Amino acid sequence: MLEQTADSTGVKILGADMFRFAVKKERISDSAYKQLTLSEFTKAAEVYETDKAGVYKMCKKDYPDVLAELEKEPFTNLLDCGCGTAPMLTLLHEKYPEKHYTGIDLTPKMIEVAKSKNMAGVELVVGDCEKLPFAEESFDVVICCQSFHHYPNVQDFFNSVCRVLRPDGRLILRDMTAESDGVRWFMNNVEMRVINRTGHGDVHVYGREEVKNLCDNAGLILENFEKRGFYRLHAVARKPAKTQD
Ligand SMILES: C[S@@+](CC[C@H](N)C(=O)[O-])C[C@H]1O[C@@H](n2cnc3c(N)ncnc32)[C@H](O)[C@@H]1O
Repeated sequence: MLEQTADSTGVKILGADMFRFAVKKERISDSAYKQLTLSEFTKAAEVYETDKAGVYKMCKKDYPDVLAELEKEPFTNLLDCGCGTAPMLTLLHEKYPEKHYTGIDLTPKMIEVAKSKNMAGVELVVGDCEKLPFAEESFDVVICCQSFHHYPNVQDFFNSVCRVLRPDGRLILRDMTAESDGVRWFMNNVEMRVINRTGHGDVHVYGREEVKNLCDNAGLILENFEKRGFYRLHAVARKPAKTQD
């Protein structure tokens, strides 16, 4: 996430900048984060699934783990939050064309590219994952890959997911994380500030306790949280099943 210049002087200047941003604790407004995200992914949309995707190529590493997690339980209706150009929905649609898929993304250009794939049975919507525009209990499973670190009001996202999931439904999350509190502090207070300056709308990288609190507050049960491979968060949360009276 951190851009470094190869030149040693450049690294020194970047180091000084990072220190200044961390000490000043500048606060970016929610709408400014979303504007950064919109501008970042409007530029990225055309190249996102090509060999010119740059840093976004790393997102592909999440898809096999999401697929393996999904295949542990049957599902019919799936929602992909922050679906982008819909690479994960494309993979799922090819493998299980009979299921019903919905993708939502804040960036109209990402949805435009996703729609150009003309996938039957895949509904694609421009919208904000902090306020999901879907009926209560309408999905068996919600997935969210490399997106929720962009949400300034992340609790609203978890609350919204809990509302749209059917009882006993699952949320599968993939993102960045680090086990060490110190490393996460550095990522959130220094690295994020630098990458915001370079036009990226990243807000926060989460640890286990933070994800657990977000789930608890939303009424979801965090069943699994792992750090996998290179700074990868893999988590599964479940909406409680309805109890028989
Ligand atoms: C790194 S891309 C990930 C795309 C896709 N999930 C993948 O794994 O390849 C992050 C996506 O999250 C979307 N996003 C960021 N904030 C959002 C929000 N509040 N609501 C919906 N989508 C959002 C961005 O527009 C972008 O398409």
